[in-house]
Amino acid sequence: MRKNIVAGNWKMHKTNTETVALLNEIMAQLKTPNCEVIFAPTFVNLKTAVDTVKGHHITVAAQNMHQAEGGAFTGEIAANMLTDIGVNTVILGHSERRAYFHETDALLENKVNTALKHNMRVIFCFGEELKDRQNNNHFNVVEYQLRDALFALEKKDWANIVLAYEPVWAIGTGETATPEQAQEMHLFIRELIAKVYGNDVADNVSILYGGSVKPDNAKEIFSKPDVDGGLIGGASLKANDFLAIVNAF
Ligand code: PGA
Repeated sequence: MRKNIVAGNWKMHKTNTETVALLNEIMAQLKTPNCEVIFAPTFVNLKTAVDTVKGHHITVAAQNMHQAEGGAFTGEIAANMLTDIGVNTVILGHSERRAYFHETDALLENKVNTALKHNMRVIFCFGEELKDRQNNNHFNVVEYQLRDALFALEKKDWANIVLAYEPVWAIGTGETATPEQAQEMHLFIRELIAKVYGNDVADNVSILYGGSVKPDNAKEIFSKPDVDGGLIGGASLKANDFLAIVNAF
């Protein structure tokens, strides 16, 4: 059975001190959630976050990772550096990585393969830009993003894949896809995966929605049958907002 997940992507926010403070504030109020709760702080705060959440049902994830096993790549982070400190989940393909750091589907395919080789779970982000939706090309764009980065995977690999559909026009803009738009795309994605990998894979993969999820729209979005949770940016930086989203399940 696929699981419900609420993941906070903290992006380039929060110092080490602030990371501990926010995690403690959230943990103090987090009852037994009806979903998996994930936080993705910036690299330098990952070890602190792992130590801070020890004993709680919280997963710490990285926001990115390099595709190589190691080597002369100044400023980069390898998979085994993450797993060694207890980080076994990584977000790959976020639209900000694609837009500002020129990450392509081919590069992301490499990153996904490296992560899976290290038994990491991948939260794979993808989604169309505004112009694609305006040109009614959004289903095509999403299909090709998935095809180019993920569809060479073997069936068994999908046990470690979580999908995060994030329409670029809804990220950090305050503009959210309507619950109907999210459901329409999530169903399209699930049917596509069923065609390529079969119903068992499609039924078991969690598909998160991301893009301006807030306490006041989370419940409706999460109530859609093919939406299995959210990847939360801005609203994950405030304990009360994030908790309200987690409690929307
Ligand atoms: P947002 O970001 O919630 O601030 O729109 C979502 C994301 O970038 O994952």
